[in-house]
Amino acid sequence: MDPQINKHLLTIDPYKPGRPIEDVKKEFGLDRVIKLASNENPIGPSPKAIEAVAKAASHMNLYPDGASIQLRDAIASHYHIPPSQVLLGNGSDELIHLLGLMYLHGPEDEVMVGDPGFSRYDTSAFINRSKLVRVPLNSNLEHDLEAMAKAANQNTKLIYIANPHNPTGSIVREPAFRTFLNALPPTAKVVLDEAYVEYGEGVDELPSALEFVKEGRQVIGLRTFSKAYGLAGIRIGYGFAAPEIVDVYHRVREPFNVNSLAQAAATAALQDREYLKKSVEHNRKARNRLNAIFASLGAKPYESYANFALADFGRPTDGLYMELMKKGIITRAGSWFGLPNCLRVTVGTDEELNFFEEVITSILSPAVAQ
Ligand SMILES: Cc1ncc(COP(=O)(O)O)c(C=O)c1O
Repeated sequence: MDPQINKHLLTIDPYKPGRPIEDVKKEFGLDRVIKLASNENPIGPSPKAIEAVAKAASHMNLYPDGASIQLRDAIASHYHIPPSQVLLGNGSDELIHLLGLMYLHGPEDEVMVGDPGFSRYDTSAFINRSKLVRVPLNSNLEHDLEAMAKAANQNTKLIYIANPHNPTGSIVREPAFRTFLNALPPTAKVVLDEAYVEYGEGVDELPSALEFVKEGRQVIGLRTFSKAYGLAGIRIGYGFAAPEIVDVYHRVREPFNVNSLAQAAATAALQDREYLKKSVEHNRKARNRLNAIFASLGAKPYESYANFALADFGRPTDGLYMELMKKGIITRAGSWFGLPNCLRVTVGTDEELNFFEEVITSILSPAVAQ
């Protein structure tokens, strides 16, 4: 190890992504492997985004527009908010990283998260040597807003709430969220991470970060093109915040943090409402089907509002996770995030779910599978 390196950084665990398909094919000698592990969109990207990227590719000798003006304006006009309140990042992962740099000064500052939760929030606390306060989810695997409000204090700088939540798919509802906000010290910023929010369309009382930002509350909204818009590979996330927060963000971000292909893809995808509708509709059906498969095998599915389903099998799922992988299906074992009896499975295409159903039934209920 280089003795000059900042040793504090060695306390951070590298992000553990779902295993790559090619890797699993090689290890188990399989021809067919599907990945239902990383909450990607199974229906492929919008054809309009593909076309826009192809067009933009002929200009990739040039630096991108550092301010992403066209995309920023498109988002601003779509959501009826000034461009000065729009954040853009190389995935919302980058925005989480930047918010850490902006708000966390050291060990006296606290970041609060629901536990289990999305690991990038934790990493941002560790990178900035700040204190991570984990508040357990309740028994339905929902955020315990009352406990979180109680745990907040003058040192709490950022509170992350993924809504819908990852890895559980649960949501917080508007009245409870409003009560929660009112109970917080005014210095605590609540980051409502709406990576999966499009899948909750039509759900009663789903709070909207955008509305709270417009009201001037202590809320920062994060969103992404990686999920319902199907652009995870090109890396583009966005968000909404007060103009003075966006001002500082422009000072700390890299000058060209959103590449030109991502800008083109997102601008086109935002206009393709037909794709979005298809994507959300497919997700609803596929998630119901996944839950039905779990229930038929005696597992207890949690109510999910995202693009994955989580079920409790009543016993550790590490073995099941391995069995599925050996047969060509990559999922997430709950032990990765502290729910050892659970399995998280991302929605797939109809064909992928046929395969999943066949394989998991053959493992857990061989008599039925025959
Ligand atoms: C809750 C949550 N926030 C943020 C992200 C990161 O998304 P992006 O691809 O925009 O970096 C994810 C990705 O899975 C997520 O689950």
